[in-house]
Amino acid sequence: MPSAGTADLVIVANRLPVDRVTLADGSPGWRTSPGGLVTAIEPVLRANDGVWVGWPGGTEQDLQPFEFDGLSLVPMTMSAEEVKDFYEGFSNGTLWPLYHDVVAKPEFHREWWDAYVGVNQRFAEKAAELASEGATVWVHDYQLQLVPQILRSLRPDLRIGFYLHIPFPPAELFQQLPWRRQILEGLLGADLVGFQMNGGAQNFVRLVRQRVGHKTHRDLVYLPDGRTVKAAAFPISIDAKGFEELARSERVEKRAETIRDALGSPRKVFLGVDRLDYTKGIYARLRAFSELIIDGHFDVEDAVFVQVATPSREQVEQYRILRDEIDRLVGHINGDLGRIGRPAISYLHSSYPREEMAALYRAADIMVVTPYRDGMNLVAKEYVATRYEDDGALVLSEFAGAADELRQAWLVNPYDINGMKSALLEAYAADERERGRRMKAMRKTVLQHDVAAWADAFLLELAAARGAHGKTVRP
Ligand code: ADP
Ligand code: G6P
Repeated sequence: MPSAGTADLVIVANRLPVDRVTLADGSPGWRTSPGGLVTAIEPVLRANDGVWVGWPGGTEQDLQPFEFDGLSLVPMTMSAEEVKDFYEGFSNGTLWPLYHDVVAKPEFHREWWDAYVGVNQRFAEKAAELASEGATVWVHDYQLQLVPQILRSLRPDLRIGFYLHIPFPPAELFQQLPWRRQILEGLLGADLVGFQMNGGAQNFVRLVRQRVGHKTHRDLVYLPDGRTVKAAAFPISIDAKGFEELARSERVEKRAETIRDALGSPRKVFLGVDRLDYTKGIYARLRAFSELIIDGHFDVEDAVFVQVATPSREQVEQYRILRDEIDRLVGHINGDLGRIGRPAISYLHSSYPREEMAALYRAADIMVVTPYRDGMNLVAKEYVATRYEDDGALVLSEFAGAADELRQAWLVNPYDINGMKSALLEAYAADERERGRRMKAMRKTVLQHDVAAWADAFLLELAAARGAHGKTVRP
């Protein structure tokens, strides 16, 4: 057994909260990493004393542990080959599409799997080196599903939690994976395996029973060595109060007004904010919007669609294809429907600070979130958190985890373009009372179930999962 480190809480995630970038003057610097995982975990580490192990992007090799904005970060290096085979390959060419309803076709390559095993091994070894005796290690997401098992073999004294931020697929899809048993056994190294939805937890337990042959009862798996593993749902959330406070600030309010002016003060602003990912349904939503203009329901003087789409995983072919398709679609729509100074779609690839995101949400009358499949979707919750006057409208896909909680949104099936057009139009035309009634209920939900409540629930359950031994992390 390796000697223990000093950290009572170790967060292990493929991404660090910041990415290594080259600044304008050519010097190296840091930038907030994209995605919901980082948004959710950052406040949790801030509230606890711990370290975060992760990859800062790129292939730089000699990075040392460092403090950033009060957080203790331990960077993991990756070779160019690992980026290709582990990150772009197995993580985002195999698991991501497989776990998202095969919206794109997953590829299965043995050399990608080998790289996945190797990187998981290194992450587990690093966590084992940093964790104190009896510490809590919280492992995150699909890139690191083998870490719990490897870590347990290195450090049986640890309390190990795993949380999957994306959907866990039904057995019919998961079974395609040539390494299905290894993944299930990897996850079973944890004491507690958390999912976004009950359905994911149930899929997992059923697969463990069928494929690994362990006894299960409801949400518990009984292992031959006497250990018990619990699988349960913990729907993730955001720092709702923090977002609301930001939204209430004068600077954000002013900036929201400036954004609307810059858009030509249309009557209504539609907004989409996504990583440029094929799971998000960006293409279909822009088509639906453009058809409403073509059909004469409104005009570019009445409404504009602001689509913020941060480029993501750009070396993966499916993502490159998507980017080209959307570039072309936006070009067509603006070419056909726009007027001078009045594009139908204002399309932006930038990544923004939180304050600018809050201003965009404040500037938007209708937020459009239409993924084909999404673990949760934090953008939907962020929009709701900023609408402190109970105004604004949310159009939300039934296939986002958030739809389970935000029942009062205009719910849509993103595969049904006509249905989506009707929902966009209803949200556009809804009166103040109707919008207020829906938003009020959704705000109550988001404010009550914030990210602190999520982390509390997970860490308390994890503490309970292994009885009284080990140190307790205060959630
Ligand atoms: P995913 O994790 O799949 O990217 P989520 O909607 O759950 O989707 O989370 C996305 C997170 O990334 C949100 O916190 C959102 O505010 C943030 N985000 C998305 N686009 C941008 C952008 N262009 N600039 C800054 N933050 C962004
Ligand atoms: C989603 C995933 C995260 C991932 C993020 C950004 O939120 O659940 O694990 O970090 O997308 O994707 P990237 O590939 O850039 O890390």
